[in-house]
Amino acid sequence: MQSMNTSALPPVGTPLPHESAVLHVTGAATYCDDIRELAGTLHGAPGRSERAHARILAMDLEPVRQAPGVRAVITGADIPGVNDFSFTLKDDPLLAEKEVLYYGHPVFLVVAETHEQARKAARLAKITYEDLPALLTAEAAAAANAEVLPPVEVNRGNAPAALAAAPHRLQGKTHLGGQEHFYLESNIAYAVPKEEDTIHVWSSTQHPSEVQHAVAHALGYSVNQVTLEARRLGGGFGGKESQPAQWACLAAVAAKLTGHPVKVRLDRDDDMALTGKRHDFHIEYDAGFDDRGQLLGLKVLLVSRCGYSPDLSGPVNDRAVFHVDNAYYLDQVAIRSLRGKTHTVSNTAFRGFGGPQGIFAIETVLEDIARYLGLDPLEVRRANFYGSTPEEGRNVTHYGMTVEDNVIAPLVAQLEKDCDYRARRAAIARFNQENAVFKRGLSLTPVKFGISFTATQFNQAGALVHVYSDGTVLANHGGIEMGQGLYTKIRQIVAQELGIPVDLVRLSATNTSKVPNTSATAASSGTDLNGKASQQAAAAIRERLTAFAAEQAGVAPATVQFQNGRVTAGDRTWTFQELVKAAYNARIKLWESGFYKTPKIHYDPKTMRGRPFYYFAYGAAASEVILDTRTGEYRVLRVDVLHDVGRSINPALDLGQIEGGFIQGMGWLTTEELWWRPDGRLMTHAPSTYKIPTAADLPPVFNVKLFDNANVEDSIHKSKAVGEPPLMLPFSVFFALREAVGATDPTGRKFIAMDAPATPETLLNAIRDLAR
Ligand code: MTE
Ligand code: MOS
Repeated sequence: MQSMNTSALPPVGTPLPHESAVLHVTGAATYCDDIRELAGTLHGAPGRSERAHARILAMDLEPVRQAPGVRAVITGADIPGVNDFSFTLKDDPLLAEKEVLYYGHPVFLVVAETHEQARKAARLAKITYEDLPALLTAEAAAAANAEVLPPVEVNRGNAPAALAAAPHRLQGKTHLGGQEHFYLESNIAYAVPKEEDTIHVWSSTQHPSEVQHAVAHALGYSVNQVTLEARRLGGGFGGKESQPAQWACLAAVAAKLTGHPVKVRLDRDDDMALTGKRHDFHIEYDAGFDDRGQLLGLKVLLVSRCGYSPDLSGPVNDRAVFHVDNAYYLDQVAIRSLRGKTHTVSNTAFRGFGGPQGIFAIETVLEDIARYLGLDPLEVRRANFYGSTPEEGRNVTHYGMTVEDNVIAPLVAQLEKDCDYRARRAAIARFNQENAVFKRGLSLTPVKFGISFTATQFNQAGALVHVYSDGTVLANHGGIEMGQGLYTKIRQIVAQELGIPVDLVRLSATNTSKVPNTSATAASSGTDLNGKASQQAAAAIRERLTAFAAEQAGVAPATVQFQNGRVTAGDRTWTFQELVKAAYNARIKLWESGFYKTPKIHYDPKTMRGRPFYYFAYGAAASEVILDTRTGEYRVLRVDVLHDVGRSINPALDLGQIEGGFIQGMGWLTTEELWWRPDGRLMTHAPSTYKIPTAADLPPVFNVKLFDNANVEDSIHKSKAVGEPPLMLPFSVFFALREAVGATDPTGRKFIAMDAPATPETLLNAIRDLAR
């Protein structure tokens, strides 16, 4: 890839390799744990609760203090500032003091000379508990009216009346499991105390500014005493949006109290047991529809397991409500969302941010309707698509946003044709008739995903671009590189703006002392926001260089050209470096900041109405599976994807995001099962018991294509966000498996009760239930 000759191509739109690709594969990329440790560095490890819900009666930490290498044992009472890392400053203790709220809840931090010593010592505490009743599931929380946040309802029209009047009516319920992020780099922070009560923290976080604030609160510092830095993350997937604050605060507190640099790195088991996951959902629905399967009325209940505190559960569940429509027009609809409070770890953001759970609800409804009516599920889906033109109508979402960029019908039609959907379905029907043991399934599912933070204030970003006097460029912005390729895209955008090859542009680590008040890199909008801010900064520098060149050549500024590392004005030509050098000597400012805020968006969180999204990203996938109905084992045979990334800034990275998102979503829906012991202890806390997809699970045929579709909005180079939407493409895998299960029922019409993930056990249970 490195030798690929891309210098003649414009930087934007070219499939350049990831800026750190070589560092990634050679091991030279510096992750947090690779930073050379300063002399005297100590290591922290959390001491964990062994109850799901209990009062702490007594804590004997003497054995911990006496253990080899231990230098300090810190409890909640020792924290100099606020013992809380949540943005509300009340819900999430850094170290639980009187009461523990989930199995694993950190109650103290051991600080020792080595990581191993700290971990060993952490197990030696003698804690006396008084057990309290524990609620462990979303259903249990709903039954007990235990909620971390008030319920949310969105209504349009009169759903009960529409249901009563509908020619057909169907009720159902399902359960959708959670998901462990399983980023390769577990949570980590390294805190170094500096002069005059300031501190520098490296943290593996998607949200440096929030961690900066949390550290300041924990230490009783002002925010300007804390610097947060992150060059790259070994994956975040939403799991490092809010929760890294806990580990960064603990490292910082330990650093402050001991005067030493302190690193807190969670072991994989600790990371899995002590950090929040995707919310699992209990879903109930009541649907009324016509003979074509078009929905006339719909009621949906979404109950999620939030864990012990709100964390990001508010916006996650809101997004679930916003996405119950997926690509479909819901006319008369009533959605109710309950945010269950449980004595489990506090669940958090995960790729799609609740959107996938909302979409799963409507896709389940449409699958059930298709089976009930004996129709091809694709036809039922199509009967419910949003209208494509204002004349057609049916184009306003249940939250009052007009869908102006709908391409779902042509996109699905193209995929249907490309993947030979009809002929293959006919062949599969024949196969299923002829085979008693093996059954196949083929499903085509669409995605429409809203892009922007639903919390409007986060839709802003800043950047800082320096052109040094030798003509090389250093760009910095508020976004986080977590593998998705954000830095690469920013590099392309800045190079494009200055008309120079990407090699002249370097990105420096994201740092709160360079660009302040940053938003989390999340909601897929990293490039949309930081790309625009960086572009603006680079454009301002180019304008000053343009004026200078025009003056030198005695021509109008509009005639000056920046291209391929050269600047031409009238009959004069400079290399970019020559012009920069001359401009420096003429005392022209060669660096600039940029700022961007997303236009058009607004929404009222009380009524849940408005335009929360700048635009939508679309996609669809068709997946074929084969199932062994005796064992529940299956293979995904073929996957075809057509996905809308607008006008791609980097097709190689975008394809990578689509493939990666697909496989991650497939894992969630098939093999990744979280399992808690009845006392609330997470038993699937390592790869030995929690099965994420591996290379062997890759579909042997995996065709991924980009849908040619420039963004109708003025997004950065007319591109579209790609980070999260592809995660929802593998609903096609889940529903193909459900179809294969359904094929064991000779009537073809019996209701299928099948929860997600579709593990072999789930599939066998569903087959058994159908045979009853
Ligand atoms: N891709 C990689 N390789 N690693 C990640 O952690 N996170 C996903 C997605 N793709 C992630 C990823 C999530 S949850 C989001 S919100 C986006 O990337 C964030 O980055 P972006 O806004 O720059 O797309
Ligand atoms: Mo992504 S869940 O918005 O970090």
